[in-house]
Order: sequence, then structure tokens, then C-alpha cells
Amino acid sequence: MKEKLKELDKLRNKALLGGGVERIEKQHAKGKLTARERIALLLDPGSFEELDMLVTHRTTDFGMDQQSFLGDGVVTGFGTIDGRLVFVFSQDFTVFGGSLSETHAEKICKVMDMAMKNGAPLIGLNDSGGARIQEGVRSLGGYADIFYRNVQASGVIPQISAIMGPCAGGAVYSPAMTDFTIMTEHSSFMFVTGPNVVKTVTNEQVSSEDLGGAHTHATKSGVTHFTAPNDYANIQLIRKLLSYIPQNCEEKTPKLPYTPNEEWRPALNDIIPDNPNTPYDIKDVITQLVDDGTYLESHPEFAANIVTCFARMGGRSIGIIANQPMVLAGVLDVNASRKGARFVRFCDAFNIPLLVLEDVPGFLPGTDQEWNAIILNGAKLLFAFSEATVPRITVVTRKAYGGAYDVMNSKHIGADLNYAWPCAEIAVMGAKGASEIIFRRDIKKAKDPEAKLKSLEQEYAAKFANPYIAASRGFIDEVIEPKSTRRKLIKAFDMLENKVAYLPKKKHGNIPL
Ligand code: HXC
Repeated sequence: MKEKLKELDKLRNKALLGGGVERIEKQHAKGKLTARERIALLLDPGSFEELDMLVTHRTTDFGMDQQSFLGDGVVTGFGTIDGRLVFVFSQDFTVFGGSLSETHAEKICKVMDMAMKNGAPLIGLNDSGGARIQEGVRSLGGYADIFYRNVQASGVIPQISAIMGPCAGGAVYSPAMTDFTIMTEHSSFMFVTGPNVVKTVTNEQVSSEDLGGAHTHATKSGVTHFTAPNDYANIQLIRKLLSYIPQNCEEKTPKLPYTPNEEWRPALNDIIPDNPNTPYDIKDVITQLVDDGTYLESHPEFAANIVTCFARMGGRSIGIIANQPMVLAGVLDVNASRKGARFVRFCDAFNIPLLVLEDVPGFLPGTDQEWNAIILNGAKLLFAFSEATVPRITVVTRKAYGGAYDVMNSKHIGADLNYAWPCAEIAVMGAKGASEIIFRRDIKKAKDPEAKLKSLEQEYAAKFANPYIAASRGFIDEVIEPKSTRRKLIKAFDMLENKVAYLPKKKHGNIPL
């Protein structure tokens, strides 16, 4: 037995070294952690159970039979995060650049299948040179096996992708189909074709960082939801994100203990400026509403005119979608609409109640918006809210104009409770625009058209720029004092705890993609 144990020990120690000390040092020199160091940081201490540590590739071409590494470039297994089961794969750049062989893909597919069977999140730590070039189509097949499983798992278990190195070519499509992507700044990049191909095809000269670095995807494309300054921070972010989301679509996020008290927030009475055109920071409102220290913003640098974040309210995890008057006056545009829609769909898929804070002057006009399909993109947000069956509450903090009133979780599209603050303005459009249209003749005829417009505008504003017409119809359930909002919302989410709502039987809807 002793000899057998020695042999096992030898194999394990060999596997633990991945591509060897020299390559590990190279990895560290780039400021990157190794696959195993990342897993050790991610999971609760001592909880990791590794699978397939002794798997090797089966390729013989190009002298590959002479080069083999135990584990074949990916560390896989299961463990816990804050005591909750998760499955994980972590690509090992020290072995063939973390490239994906047939066996490497099989290892990933095995943990994906286990995550599905056992209803637990899947976390992928990506650091790979792409398809194992020596394997050709077998590697491509391996990617497709993973893609297929990403899609089957979508909406069943949460899938999180950390990008901690290269991620290029078709490899980008696995993270793209998972729920959240977190990129490490300066050491990761994602693109379908790299700078050399770009130069050949379009004659553009661009660096890897500018083409597909963390900053680019966080601000321009929205491909990544989060960025982190280094691998350590990236991993901490994964742990934090998981704390807001449940194990699978059949469960709710564990609720933290909460002792009810009066929960008045007097500061909320003073946030909205007297002038309706003066901006304020909606994040100041959110901070007052949510449990202290609970806030995780998704896509903070992309389409900042809408804020999407997780937080807790009365111990319960919720998703917040809020117009941000500080950026473009909180208008809905193409990017804000698709950012909001994706967030709503994630929360709905995983039983996370939704809170909407509404202050929206409408959709952004212009050729740029129309030609980039604001119609279809705005419809995504409308569709996402309309099909969401989780508890849904809206608070109109100020403006709710035009189609945007309907879209932002109005009563008509299935919101459970709609509150408005007394300063809310709920109307077809702003007083000036409305007066110019409906009183055009009167204004033309007037001796002093400008003065006439001003007085008609005031008349229109007095009549419509308030929450009371909507409240008289029951479109708003209650006009509330801002300082009572947190108290009301905690009670409302408690009331909605066991909400039951079903969509009509169908194969799937046809969201305007
Ligand atoms: C096999 C690979 C590899 C790959 C890197 N290596 N990529 N081995 N297949 N795809 C190996 C290198 O030979 C080297 O081995 C080690 O990994 C580290 O690579 P370096 O080049 O030394 O590292 P670095 O300078 O950091 O550059 C990293 C890199 C570069 C940018 C990823 O290696 C690179 O460009 N690789 C090729 C990328 C690529 O074209 N992949 C295929 C894309 S097509 P040694 O033994 O020296 O340590 C694709 C299609 C997917 O992925 C389609 C899915 C549908």
C-alpha cells in the first residue's frame, strides 16, 4: 500500500505544478495568479474537491505525444462559497497557454453537467489562448459542446465568467452567453478577431487593450458587467455577486436576518431639486432606501443613464433599475434599454424581486438612435418587464413621460405596486412641448406669442405635471412622502413574498432581439 500511496502522491504533486515552475513564474511576472491560486481564493478554505486531475490529452500529431501535462490545462471541481455549493473550472495558462483541447472541453462539460444536475452556480475562470491549435476541429467541437451547455443552463443555474487572460476568437461566446462577466484590467482581453486580423481586413491600427480590454468592454460595448483591478479583486467580486443570487431558478436568495423598525429616511424629502430640470444623483436615493452597505452595481460605466444594481432591503436581495437624472437627464436610449432589459431578465429568471425608480423624460431622439434601432431596443425593455413574474414595484420619483412611462414597469404592464412622490410629473410629454403642439394656433394668433406660450405652458403643467391624475385612475396605488419610501417598500416586498403569476403556456416568447 505504501508504494501505491507514494505513486498517487507523485502524480498529484506533478499535477499541482501544471506547466511547471518556470511557466508559473512567468504567469506571476505578468501580475496574474495561477489557476489553482484563483480557486483557492474563490472557494471557502478547504472546500475544494478536484475532479479529473489526472486527465491528459489524446493528441499524437505535431509531437504532442511527447508533451503531456496532468489535468490538460484546466482545473475543475466543486466547493463552497459562504457555505453554498458551486462548481468551478479554472483554465491553466501554464499548460499550452490554457488552450482548449478535446479533453479540456470534456472536463469543463463534466462540471457543467454536474452543476445542472445539482442545481448550483457555475463559475468559469477563463485564461486561454483559444482552440488547441494542434487539435483542429476536435477543439472546435469541444467549444460547441460548452456553448450548447451554456444555453441549456441559461435561466436554470447562474453562470458567472471571470476573464483573467486572453479570450479570443469563438471562445468569447461562452462568457457572452453566461449571466455575468468580470474582466481583470490590463491582463485580460476579449475579441472575435485580434489586432493583426483587424489591420489586414479593415486597415485599422489598434492595440489589444483598445480593441478588447476591460475598459473598452466596460464602457463601449457593455460586454463586461464588471471590471476589477487585479485577479484578487475579480475573485472577491464573484463572491460578492453570488451573495445576491440564488442557487438556481427554483430557489430564492437566502434572506438575511432583519429586525423591523420604523425605517423613516427624512433625507429623502430633500433630494429632489425644486427646479424639475435640475439633476440629482439617483444613487443618493438608492443609498437611503437599501440596507446599509448593500449595493452592487452592474455595468457601472456603461449606459450610465440607467442604473442597474443588486442590494438588500429588509434583508431580502432585490434588483434595482433606476433612471439616472445625472446622465443625459435619465433618458432611455439604445444602450440603456438593452442594459436594463438584460438585468430585468436575469432577476426574473432567478426570483429576485425588482424595484424600479423612475425619473425619465422619454426616449432619446435623433438619427443615431433611430438608425441603431431604438424601436427594437426600447421594445426589449418593455418586453422584459412585461414578461417578468417576480414581485415588481415602481416608485416615480419625478418624471414619467411618454412611452417611457409605460415601459418603466407601469401598472399596465404588470407591476404589482406603483408609488409616486408628490413631485412626480406623469404625462404624455413635458409642458413646453405639449403646449407648442396643442395650442399652436392660439400661440400663433397671440400678440406676444412667447408670453402666450409661457402662460399656456404653466396651465398645462399645473394640470398634468403631477401624480394625481394617474392616482385618480389607480395607475398609481399611493402618492407617498419620500421619507416613508423604505418603510413602504419593505412592507410591500413582504406582502409580495409568495406572489404567484404565470405566463400563458408557450414554447418561448419572441423578444425583439
Ligand atoms: C496551443 C498554445 C495556444 C493555442 C498559446 N499556446 N496559444 N498552444 N494552442 N491556441 C502555447 C504557446 O505555444 C506557449 O507554449 C504557451 O501557450 C504560452 O504562449 P505564449 O505565446 O508564449 O504567451 P503570450 O506571449 O502571453 O501570448 C498569449 C497569446 C498567444 C496571445 C494567447 O499565445 C497567442 O496568440 N496564441 C494563439 C491564439 C490563437 O490564435 N488561438 C486560436 C484562436 S481561434 P510554451 O510551450 O512555449 O509555454 C479559436 C477558435 C475558437 O480559438 C473557435 C470556437 C468556436
